[in-house]
Amino acid sequence: MNRLSTKLGRIELANPVTVASGTFGLESGDWYDLSRLGALVSKTITLEPRAGNQPPRLFETSGGLLNSIGLQNPGLEAFLRDELPLYAAVGPPLMVSFSAGTVDEFCRMVETMEKHEGIAGYEVNVSCPNVEREGMAFGTDAQVVYDLTRRLAALTQRELCVKLTPNVTDIVTIARAAQEGGATSLALINTLLGMAIDPETGHSRIARGVAGYSGPAIKPVAVACVWRVAQAVNIPILAMGGIAGWEDAVELIRAGACAVAVGTAAFVSPDLPVRVLDGLDAFLARKELTLAELVGTATF
Ligand SMILES: Cc1cc2nc3c(=O)[nH]c(=O)nc-3n(C[C@H](O)[C@H](O)[C@H](O)COP(=O)(O)O)c2cc1C
Repeated sequence: MNRLSTKLGRIELANPVTVASGTFGLESGDWYDLSRLGALVSKTITLEPRAGNQPPRLFETSGGLLNSIGLQNPGLEAFLRDELPLYAAVGPPLMVSFSAGTVDEFCRMVETMEKHEGIAGYEVNVSCPNVEREGMAFGTDAQVVYDLTRRLAALTQRELCVKLTPNVTDIVTIARAAQEGGATSLALINTLLGMAIDPETGHSRIARGVAGYSGPAIKPVAVACVWRVAQAVNIPILAMGGIAGWEDAVELIRAGACAVAVGTAAFVSPDLPVRVLDGLDAFLARKELTLAELVGTATF
């Protein structure tokens, strides 16, 4: 066994470094060998194609990035036809991130994806509005998360990873609900709510106002969420939020994650995922530790 190998629920990963949904595309292969990643994660796919929100929908702040992309994607059918074969050809296990407006629609999407080879697991994006509950995000209600996860778990033997939003009163309650519903791993954190306003004109920097906040500024929030959730559940955690170097990955792993995803910071340094991987490998060698031995070793 190599010192970097890890397990995310039902999937064996050669190493713990992957990419955060929506911040990665196969064009990253222009900068590094994508087959070196422990896993691939698609952008979030919805049943129907989505054009996304009107610009401006990105704004860089001093410590992070505001985005309001609005789940722009080609829709499930086109993804399965045009993109899945390309992702599958890269080699590492593929997690398809997906989202829907109703529980039934989430289920229909899994039923369709189950008919296709080349998908190792699903990352369930519950940060989107639930049209049956006045548009409140699925991931903010423990009962809804439990019911959704239970329905999806009955449809698949593939990895079922629920991606949690930090925009809740208590992320631990939601994490427990996902585990009880049958999630085999958790991904955290999705973006925080943020907003920026041009001081001169008073206009929101983002056309829709409130947006998702990510990047280095949110890392301490991610570390705290991972630490608290890791104390409360016994399924593996895929951590993301502000990783800008291998040291950040080590922090999240010490907090309790068994895998990590690089997101926003790769917009600045496109080859960051493999630099995080190499840095983590050198760190483990220096400490004479395996990845498994590092998980959850934070003390205070
Ligand atoms: C431009 C952009 C698009 C994103 N799109 C998605 C998405 O489609 N699905 C999803 O689950 N998360 C999405 N995210 C959230 C990231 O996957 C990640 O959870 C979050 O940005 C925190 O990690 P980071 O600080 O390393 O970026 C997006 C983030 C950004 C910046």
